Amino acid sequence: MVEVPRLLVTLPPFHDTLEALAEGHSLKNAFARLSQAYRQGESSAVLKERADYLAYAVARMPATYAVLETVLAEVAKRWPFKIKTFLDLGSGPGTAYWAAECESYRAVERDPSFIALAKELGVKGEWVQSSLEAYAFNPVDLTLFSYVVAEIKEYEALVMRAYQETSVLVIVEPGTPAGFERIRLLRRRLIAQGAHILAPCPSEGECPMQEGNWCHFSKRLSRSRLHRSIKGADLGYEDEKYSYVIAAKTSGNPCKARILTHPHVSKGKVLLPVCLGCELKTITLKKTKLKWGDALESLDSEPEEQDKKSDGKKTC
Ligand SMILES: C[S@@+](CC[C@H](N)C(=O)[O-])C[C@H]1O[C@@H](n2cnc3c(N)ncnc32)[C@H](O)[C@@H]1O
Repeated sequence: MVEVPRLLVTLPPFHDTLEALAEGHSLKNAFARLSQAYRQGESSAVLKERADYLAYAVARMPATYAVLETVLAEVAKRWPFKIKTFLDLGSGPGTAYWAAECESYRAVERDPSFIALAKELGVKGEWVQSSLEAYAFNPVDLTLFSYVVAEIKEYEALVMRAYQETSVLVIVEPGTPAGFERIRLLRRRLIAQGAHILAPCPSEGECPMQEGNWCHFSKRLSRSRLHRSIKGADLGYEDEKYSYVIAAKTSGNPCKARILTHPHVSKGKVLLPVCLGCELKTITLKKTKLKWGDALESLDSEPEEQDKKSDGKKTC
């Protein structure tokens, strides 16, 4: 991340190059068109003009990058091996490259305009211009689907093919009920294939989320002047909601509990709604710096008391 002390904001490493590429383009209209198309359920196939790609990059890359930084940091924490080979499926403008710690980055993307933009932004890697369905998978350490699954018709079969050829599989989706349902379905399919779930879940137990609730997290990120301007926004930050799963062929170090929403303070105590893997609980602490999305690595010493809030039928 590049620190900009004058503005007290943290901007992503591709920010300056993207701002230079965007200069002279009218991105506000392009962004308005795109967001309307996305709201009507369109996919990134609606991008046509140069301004569309730039608007997409200005509006979406900072949030995607911020989420991927957090999710890939979980991989580093939960999986004991170094990631050498990184495969980014449906790589778009190569957002994941900036968050990836690896020796080699390979991107598969069908859209040549996205590949060209990624290269202009400075992404260094191997490019395969192909549909994911036609891609011939071969073994890699980590495979990523970042905001792609919803755009693929037969995504279950494709994800399972990708899983066969990777040590770690990471899937990130929007933090919406529909995004979470795709994650939950894929998690179940992966577990049926013997996968170990490294995060966010503490175990491979049956997901305890009840109807009307969905497992998602929130990442706060700074907005640059350009970012604010194309969205017509005043706030200097935004909160990106996301759902994810990290699955591996071998076991790793999953957490003991995951915080599912903002902690509440009540009567001088902090209440943490957590998932234990196959049940939900509220843990009460005297105080904590833990936040939504953080993990508890042990349950022995931290809780002052634990109030069970789930159906109470299952134990993990
Ligand atoms: C919403 S964008 C996400 C881009 C990138 N993964 C990110 O998170 O910034 C989805 C990308 O997947 C690509 N894509 C969708 N379906 C594809 C397919 N069947 N084969 C190859 N690429 C595909 C699109 O062209 C687009 O670049």
